[in-house]
Amino acid sequence: MTTNLTINTLTCEYKVNPIGLDIRKPRISWKIQSDRRGTMQTAYRIQVTENDQEFTNVLWDTGEIHSDQSIHVEYKGPALTPQTRYYYRVKVWDNFGTESEWSEMAWWETGIFYDAEWKAKWITPHPNEVDPLSEPAFLLRKEFKLTSPIRSARIYGTGVGLYELFINGDRVGTDLFSPGWTSYHKRLQYQTYDITEQLCEGNNAMGIVLADGWYKGNMSWENKRHIYGDRRAAYFQIHVKYEDGTEEIISTDATWKASTGPILFSEIYQGEIYDARLEKEGWNKPGFNDKDWHGTTVQDMPITHLVAQENWTTQVTEIIKPINTFVTPSGDTVLDMGQNMVGRIRFQVEAPKGTTIILKHAELLDNEGNIYFGNLRKAHQEVKYIAKGEGVETFAPHFTFQGFRYVKVEGYPQQEKGLISENFVGEVIHSAMEATGKFECSDPLVNQLQQNIVWGQRGNFLDVPTDCPQRDERLGWTGDAQVFIQTALFNYHGGPFFTKWLRDLKAEQYPDGGVPFVIPTVVEGANAAAWSDAATIIPWEIYKTYGDKRLLSEQYESMKAWVEYMRRQGPDEYLWAVTFNFGDWLALDAPSGSYSGSTPKDFIATAFYAYSTRLLRNAAEVLQKEEDVEEYNSLLEKIIEQFNHEFVSPSGRLVSPTQTAHVLALIFDLVEGKVKERTAVQLNELILQNNYHLTTGFVGTPYLCLALSKCGYHETAVKLLMQEGYPSWLYSVKKGATTIWEHWDGIKEDGSFWSDEMNSFNHYAYGAIGNWMYRVVAGLDLNDTAPAYKQIQIEPKFAGISLTHAKATYDSMYGKIGSSWRLTNEDIEIEVEIPANTTATITLPSTRLENVRESGALLDATAGIYKSYEKEGNVILKVGSGFYSFKYGNEVGFKVTFTEESRLVDVLEYKATKHILDQYAPGITNPPGIFAMKMKTLRELADFPEANLSINTVNVLIEELNKIEWDLAPVQ
Ligand code: BGC
Repeated sequence: MTTNLTINTLTCEYKVNPIGLDIRKPRISWKIQSDRRGTMQTAYRIQVTENDQEFTNVLWDTGEIHSDQSIHVEYKGPALTPQTRYYYRVKVWDNFGTESEWSEMAWWETGIFYDAEWKAKWITPHPNEVDPLSEPAFLLRKEFKLTSPIRSARIYGTGVGLYELFINGDRVGTDLFSPGWTSYHKRLQYQTYDITEQLCEGNNAMGIVLADGWYKGNMSWENKRHIYGDRRAAYFQIHVKYEDGTEEIISTDATWKASTGPILFSEIYQGEIYDARLEKEGWNKPGFNDKDWHGTTVQDMPITHLVAQENWTTQVTEIIKPINTFVTPSGDTVLDMGQNMVGRIRFQVEAPKGTTIILKHAELLDNEGNIYFGNLRKAHQEVKYIAKGEGVETFAPHFTFQGFRYVKVEGYPQQEKGLISENFVGEVIHSAMEATGKFECSDPLVNQLQQNIVWGQRGNFLDVPTDCPQRDERLGWTGDAQVFIQTALFNYHGGPFFTKWLRDLKAEQYPDGGVPFVIPTVVEGANAAAWSDAATIIPWEIYKTYGDKRLLSEQYESMKAWVEYMRRQGPDEYLWAVTFNFGDWLALDAPSGSYSGSTPKDFIATAFYAYSTRLLRNAAEVLQKEEDVEEYNSLLEKIIEQFNHEFVSPSGRLVSPTQTAHVLALIFDLVEGKVKERTAVQLNELILQNNYHLTTGFVGTPYLCLALSKCGYHETAVKLLMQEGYPSWLYSVKKGATTIWEHWDGIKEDGSFWSDEMNSFNHYAYGAIGNWMYRVVAGLDLNDTAPAYKQIQIEPKFAGISLTHAKATYDSMYGKIGSSWRLTNEDIEIEVEIPANTTATITLPSTRLENVRESGALLDATAGIYKSYEKEGNVILKVGSGFYSFKYGNEVGFKVTFTEESRLVDVLEYKATKHILDQYAPGITNPPGIFAMKMKTLRELADFPEANLSINTVNVLIEELNKIEWDLAPVQ
């Protein structure tokens, strides 16, 4: 048999053909494709050349290395030269003795390595001529002559605040919001572009537009300005290589000219004012007359903190069209984008000179159908365009983004006759991360929830992970990022995104190990449980998902410093009782007037102290720091011991009766044995007593369903997911949400809003449920001890009749993983896809070996399955790579079975059962009966005179309930 063994998707430092890398030993990863099941790599060979596409002069040849490593293979050849392109290719051998062809060639290109390579000067308009504090964006320009034919050209550089670059009138690249947002004084990213095609022999011109951005514009609700500095400046150099081998550098210096232009104002929160009449036609092309322009001056600023672009750049990733335009009851003309999106509107208009068009962006319409700006607080989100009156003009703002679904339009010509929606499009803007995951199931509302989670991530991953994209925050809140991290890493590739952000976290960490609330730090405050733990949780999750040991090791001291910080707080080394904490933020059990739920703050703090210590211990293990493993293992044991002493009664009851307290104790493994069992029973009870509704906030919600499923209450978890009434995930979906809300009751049941003061409709925290949907409902998980999905765990979990199908796919470092299941009354079908060079353990629920067929054949006869056995009523398989299609009889069928032990609350759960109950015990289903008895078992009902049911009638009732023919959720 000839095997098709190929390599696809070569990446270097997570990226396909990255330009401007400053990593001296970049890591190469590849994905293997094979048409044979059970394919493992047994050896690889990498070749790297310096700028030689023919591979005749090989710089580094690993030879045949016997190893199954196919991710993060570190370059170990001769020292790399900066500003150089390296081509590489890979071949592999597999366990069947097949040798692949060489992969297609890929490349990376180094950027600037040494300070001495930087030749440019930081420049800004001369302050005597252009007021440095004035609002308009600055224009900087320079003409230069290139004397002979060009072989290649690059531009390296950066700016503070935000810049756009032009060469000979054309925009360089498509990146937005460059240079991105970092801890500017400690780390400032520079960008690299290949501009070979844009330059020409002869006269050339370069133009730079500079705006305030995060660097010096208004930030935070405190309206702070000039957080990083009060001068904008640019720093660029062009490197030209001529055909004859000579080189030339053109860079920013005091010979550049400066002016202002049509952008009169542009700020992250407030929007932009653009007067097209002030455009300077041809300013960024050669031959422009700049004699009226002002001079520039060299600004004394460091370059020692320049780092190459780390994150995915920010881009327009999708264009959407309005679904409607209408006039509100109060007379506003409004566009409806159909989706709460983040980005900007691009529009075209033909209007007389001086016509002013204003766009005001908002997320929602209020109860009366009027556009609602209240929750934006001090962020105006307003874009003003003044037409130049020369035919069709097209405009989109440059250095600002808006979070919105609705746009109020003012001044558009003839808008009173109705807006023509074709003249407007929404440009969706975020870090251009690779999409990696998909989840879908048989319930359309849950599918909408998944879409809302994805849109929430898109809207809030704009260079840094933010809390919200619309009001006067849009900040890198550590807690929000930590809460959402696992879900985020399913949906999109978070490697480069979080590498950058974690480096900022480390850079901003205080000398005592404390971690600020917000990274990059632009508001005061640090050291809150569940917020600052981002320092330990995120590096660990990145390591688990991508096997990024290098980043883990880079962050290790930061993780350790945070744990040591907690250890030093308060009188007891093993408890963390702090002065300030957010607690279970926005939990529904919050005392009136408070944002923090009822779970005691020291309970939460100590639970996270334990969790962070555990992750630090794990990291020490991975990095083979033996002493630390011992140290933090014993610290962890003592924290857990002290936690039990302080927060668990001698008979095993948690001191805090909240859902979140129970969730944390279970999910962080803080309780064991009988106490654990009791905690799990109690958690389930708390949910039932609350009629299958949650009360958790930011801290408890991400783990709520995970804790229930893990402790044997998966059906309760699924009921929470499927709950449509307030509060629940689907409540917002039913209310028309297209993103995740900050509050469970952002819009109340009567249609009114939660207070204006803090009511974002695009806040991803509660979207953290996505992690459980992928991992538990669809059953696509990994073995924690084998990072990057080297050992995959497929274990779908079914629950009653409400879900009949679920499917998740995830594009891992090794390739595509799939887990999909479908139930009918008769059969269970499970499809699994496992990428080459990985193995999987598959659990097929509720069946026996002899009942299972794979692609129609008995398991024994199936290639790729190494081991199969039965355990606790399930079939367990150890398999290699490949696509598997399993089918077996649904022995459980689609039934909800009732017994004397069933609870009244479960009978009240479904319309059909409630209807039957009504016939037998009229009145129970109404208050006060419902309150008094809903937690009782059906048998116990007979003991209650109010129920008016004998035990015989109860049994007849049970018989009737079990006769129901269940309608299945729609199978898609
Ligand atoms: C943000 C949150 C953040 C919180 C801190 C809010 O204003 O929007 O998401 O985590 O403050 O409690």
